[in-house]
Parts: sequence; C-alpha cells; structure tokens
Amino acid sequence: MSELQTELLEWYFANARVLPWRDREAGTRDPYRTWLSETLLQQTQISRGSVYYTAFLEVFPTVQDLADAPLEAVLKLWEGAGYYARARNLHAAARVIAQHGFPTTLEGWRALPGVGRYTAGAVLSLSRNAPLPVVDGNVRRVLARLLVEPDPTETWLWVQAEQLIDSSQPGAWNEAMIELGATVCMPRKPRCASCPINSHCAAFHAARVDQIPAPKPRVAVKQIHAVALLITDGARVYLEQRALTGLLGGLHGVPLEVVASTRDDALAALLERYGLAATGEWVGKVAHTMTHRQFQLEVYHLTSSTALPLESPQHVALSKLDAKVLALSKLEALF
Ligand code: ADE
Repeated sequence: MSELQTELLEWYFANARVLPWRDREAGTRDPYRTWLSETLLQQTQISRGSVYYTAFLEVFPTVQDLADAPLEAVLKLWEGAGYYARARNLHAAARVIAQHGFPTTLEGWRALPGVGRYTAGAVLSLSRNAPLPVVDGNVRRVLARLLVEPDPTETWLWVQAEQLIDSSQPGAWNEAMIELGATVCMPRKPRCASCPINSHCAAFHAARVDQIPAPKPRVAVKQIHAVALLITDGARVYLEQRALTGLLGGLHGVPLEVVASTRDDALAALLERYGLAATGEWVGKVAHTMTHRQFQLEVYHLTSSTALPLESPQHVALSKLDAKVLALSKLEALF
C-alpha cells in the first residue's frame, strides 16, 4: 500500500462521521441498506438523507417488503425528498431482486432500473469489498485537486479512481474519499491544513486549490408559468396521478396548464379539459424552484359540483409544489 492510501485510510478510521448506514454491527453493510443509502445520498443532503433512510427501513426492512409494497406507498414515504424517479426505480428494481436475488457483479447491478456506475460500484465495494471505483461530486473534487486537473472529464475521473483504489479495502477507501471531499476537501474554504494527504496534493503544492476544479457552466433554469385548479368540496380535493414518465411522475397533483399566451386562455383551456363551466376564484400564487425549473403558478379555486372524484390528500404522495398549492385551499380538514 502506498503512503497516500495508508494516510487517508488511517484518517478515515479515526475521523469518519457516525452515520446510520455505517453501523456495521446493525448489519448496515448488507446490499439492500447500502443500495438504499447510496441512492438517497446522490441527490439528498446527509442530514435529510438520514431521516428518509431510517424511515424507509422502518417501513420496508427488507427488499422483499419493498417489492411487495404498492408504488404509491413507496412514493408516499419518499414525499418531499425530490427526484422521485429514484423511488420508482428502487421499487421496480426491488421486484427484480425479490425474484432473482441481489446481483453480485457490476453488470448485474447496472442492469437494474436507476442503477448507474456510481451506485453499482458503491454497493459492491461497500457491501462486498469488490475493488470497484466510485466517482461522485466529492471524489471528483478530491481527484481534480490531488492531480491538478481543473476540468476533469468523466473518463479521466473513472480511470484515476480505478488506479488509486486500495484493493485490500476498497469499500473503506471509497468511503474515505467521499468523506474527505465532504468534510475537508470542500468546494469552498477547504481545510488543507488539516488534510491527511496534503503532502500528496499537487494543487496544494501549487497553491491552486481554490481554482480547482474550475466552476461548471451553470445549467439554465427553465421558467414555467402555469395555472392550477384547486377543486374541492370543503373537505377533499381533486388530485390526479401524474404520468409515470414525466416530471414528478407517479405523484399526485392538482390539474395544471402551462400559460402559452395569456393566463385567461390557459385557465379557459384547463376548465374545458375537465368539462367545468364555472370560472373559479383566484386564490393566490405559488412559487417553487427545483434544480432546473422555476414554477410560477396562479391558483384558482372551484367548489366542485362535478363528477370528478375527490380524495383526501393524506393518502397519496404529493410533491412540494402541490403541497404548496393545497396550503392555499385553507381547508383545515385537508391536513
Ligand atoms: N455520500 C455518498 N455516499 C456516502 C456515504 N457512504 N457516506 C457519506 N456520504 C456519502
């Protein structure tokens, strides 16, 4: 083992944060728990991810429990965590695993819905000590600085990660790289003075840590202006399930129509779509920002006297966007 590897691993064993998926005595290194935590942590911060992880395992302690559950129950538990494709894929993959068992190869894992190279490598290295690299945002930053590469490509990153991996303890090594990126080699104000591998870091020696990696070009945020309908009978509300493949797929939500020309035109089109004669009363605006989208909704309320099926929102999974719309209804019975 090289000095770099010894130093990072020693630092990791002495300093690793205590996190729910790291409690080996609790059996957390089984593939199911590792897969769940790594899926959650790809888009969700550690503090929130821990809450969802614990709640999820309480309801679905085994992959069989997850496979047996209806998708709706899985989405309900994921409510508020965002990136709901993760929950849909987890559920679909659980059904495959319940039939065929957990994969034991990289290809086997990657064939499952929602599993890419990161998740496959993380699950196999952390739960089975397979010598497979992982590259996430943390590892990317550590590698870029260690090797002074301001603009690393995906190919370069995976090659470097593969070359550096400690083949005697690949799981601990991968988690140590992630941990270093999260707690020492941070994007801003990295703690180079207390970095266990600063003597090996080319960016540190060149005093270029703050320039590496170079900022990524910002992805444009799409503005979406839409009208929304809150159709209620005083206690329940009309909600429809969004298409599984689209934005917020599988979650329930209020009817929406994107404003193409004017707000009145969009509202008229929406009312016509549901065969509603009334015009609705404007009850407020909802602003909601997702990673690549910014919603501005104009919300109209209608007291239903139609055949549309109304339901209680406690029983279905809602996105934060729809939860904000429902909050405007002021119907206490809803919550
Ligand atoms: N981010 C992704 N995987 C992680 C892990 N296993 N521990 C801490 N943060 C992570």
